[in-house]
Amino acid sequence: MSNEKAVLHIKGKEKIELPIINSTVGPGVIDIRKLRESGYFTFDPGFLSTASCESKITYIDGNKGILLHRGYPIEQLATFADYLEVCYILLYGQKPSKKEYEKFKSTVTHHTMVHEQIANFFQGFRRDAHPMAVMCGVVGALAAFYHDSLDVNNDIHREIAAYRLLSKMPTLAAMCYKYSIGQPFIYPRNDLNYAENFLYMMFATRCEDYKVNPVFANVINKIFILHADHEQNASTSTVRLAGSSGANPFACISAGIASLWGPAHGGANEACLNMLEQIGTIHNIEKFLEKAKNKNDSFRLIGFGHRIYKNYDPRASVMRKACHDVLRELNIQDPLLDIAIELERIALTDEYFIQKKLYPNVDFYSGIILKAIGIPRYMFTVIFAVSRTIGWIAHWNEMHSDSKNRIGRPRQLYSGEKIRKFD
Ligand code: CMC
Repeated sequence: MSNEKAVLHIKGKEKIELPIINSTVGPGVIDIRKLRESGYFTFDPGFLSTASCESKITYIDGNKGILLHRGYPIEQLATFADYLEVCYILLYGQKPSKKEYEKFKSTVTHHTMVHEQIANFFQGFRRDAHPMAVMCGVVGALAAFYHDSLDVNNDIHREIAAYRLLSKMPTLAAMCYKYSIGQPFIYPRNDLNYAENFLYMMFATRCEDYKVNPVFANVINKIFILHADHEQNASTSTVRLAGSSGANPFACISAGIASLWGPAHGGANEACLNMLEQIGTIHNIEKFLEKAKNKNDSFRLIGFGHRIYKNYDPRASVMRKACHDVLRELNIQDPLLDIAIELERIALTDEYFIQKKLYPNVDFYSGIILKAIGIPRYMFTVIFAVSRTIGWIAHWNEMHSDSKNRIGRPRQLYSGEKIRKFD
């Protein structure tokens, strides 16, 4: 808390002094908690100017294109870290020692199996169900299996739930895929790392040995890291709000998955590939750009723009390079990538996109990578959900560790009918 104050004059009469709270880095906030005593609320649909909570986990400077997790730059994490190291950092606040990392990795690895009864849940879904719908149901249903760790006020319970979710998400995601193609589920293997294990459960069959391609595992590790957390985005805020009522962690993460699914958020990776296919050829790019710029057309250039980044999304820079590396290493010529590169080039020089500061975001390239390694499009957002689970858990845990935590209860600007008689 600083000694500086913001002064608010209401209708020229009332004068309210509001404390300013400085952040460690980046903009501070005006603490409006006592404003309600004046009889007014603030109005900020979409939370463009509102900090919904205090957090120590992730910092973003959207103008400079900076993303830090617990102070560590995303570029360094994506280049040098293993996904589970990043999970540890998000959860515990700093880089683990070798011993801490080994213990963490071993605990996560040894909890990747799911209860055998969970397989029965899948039978209730149509094979062509969208796997995000299945994930919402199955992750929420985990609460029915773990009554022993649902006390959200108990630090140990919260930690156990965190490990369970982190460990089991890839298993459930791979089960969704296997179910969709009518193949038997594959159990996890404890000798593989997190990314390898996911690919193994996705692509191995019971009929023959399967060796995970190290190029695929490396890039999945990178994709997991780049999606691990992104401060108070829609799905994380959903998890916090759901959790603020004391709801169990599995229900909260299920709510986060539902929020992530939207095409303006995590659903964008799937939608972006659909769009590139719809564009079809480089010659059609101009036509689609015009549609994106047309106020009367609801079409948007998916994979472009971000609420926070008004500069290049630092995750997109890493992803762009990874995308080129993977396609080169696998010797894949993908016409969709040619369209993506040309689209990026044209959009970045277009006055509309320059003026509105619309740069490619993380989802612009991730779909092309996932497609190159054989992951079907309907699984893209599930992979985002697997990666983001640690961010959701870290925020949920941080919220419950904060003694100031209260149930989230936004107010509204009422514009409906005044009282009237029902007769
Ligand atoms: N194509 C064309 N115009 C756009 C786009 C776009 N992709 N994004 C924003 N605009 C325009 C928008 O029409 C508006 O114009 P105006 O000021 O004239 O009304 C202006 O730019 C500001 O847009 P906004 O909708 O007010 O911005 P927002 O912060 O509410 O929305 C966004 C951010 C990501 C939802 C939006 O940019 C968008 O819909 N992008 C496409 C979907 C997408 O790629 N989503 C993935 C986000 S990154 C992954 C994640 O973190 O979930």
